[in-house]
Amino acid sequence: MNIAIISYSFTGNNDIFAECVSRDLPAKHIKISGQKPITMGSIITDMLFGRTPKVHPAPETLREYDLILFFGPVWMGHAASPLRAYLNYLKKSQKPYGFLSISGGADGGNPKLSQELMKRTGAKPVIMLDQHIKDLLSSNPNPGRKDTSAYKISEIEAKSLSDTAIKEINKFSMVD
Ligand SMILES: Cc1cc2nc3c(=O)[nH]c(=O)nc-3n(C[C@H](O)[C@H](O)[C@H](O)COP(=O)(O)O)c2cc1C
Repeated sequence: MNIAIISYSFTGNNDIFAECVSRDLPAKHIKISGQKPITMGSIITDMLFGRTPKVHPAPETLREYDLILFFGPVWMGHAASPLRAYLNYLKKSQKPYGFLSISGGADGGNPKLSQELMKRTGAKPVIMLDQHIKDLLSSNPNPGRKDTSAYKISEIEAKSLSDTAIKEINKFSMVD
């Protein structure tokens, strides 16, 4: 099975996580970037107005893969906007895909995420794994948004997140 790992990361966490999974699987890792610089201002505007930023490489890159695994942060309860062009592309090509994230989790889960992915791609993700920084931090005192958003995961933490991810990925690739 030809697997592509597509990652976007604003502060580095999801790129390290994706890099670890791509090494352990192994699979091709494609890091995406915005055609224009992505800033906190552009993130807020994308999320509030539902914009889809133009990205490198072009979404057609997905054509040659059988399973697409997206890695990226959750912003305001939604998948990071730089992934949108690829998610929208899947609606036309109907390939199995997964969504994996290390998000903050300070406000609990991200309950709207699955619904958004379904809406964009027209299909349920075959793998869905939203792991939380909150669970990596001490619960005394309870970590807030400030603590989770500033946190950079270590290589050791990325390896542990990757081990959980690989178990989920193997469940899918074994039944397929
Ligand atoms: C603008 C913004 C909004 C965020 N919204 C959420 C959210 O709704 N849910 C969540 O779990 N984490 C949220 N986070 C936290 C990020 O998902 C988390 O810090 C993630 O690890 C960052 O990934 P990255 O380093 O790959 O960019 C938000 C972070 C930012 C900057």
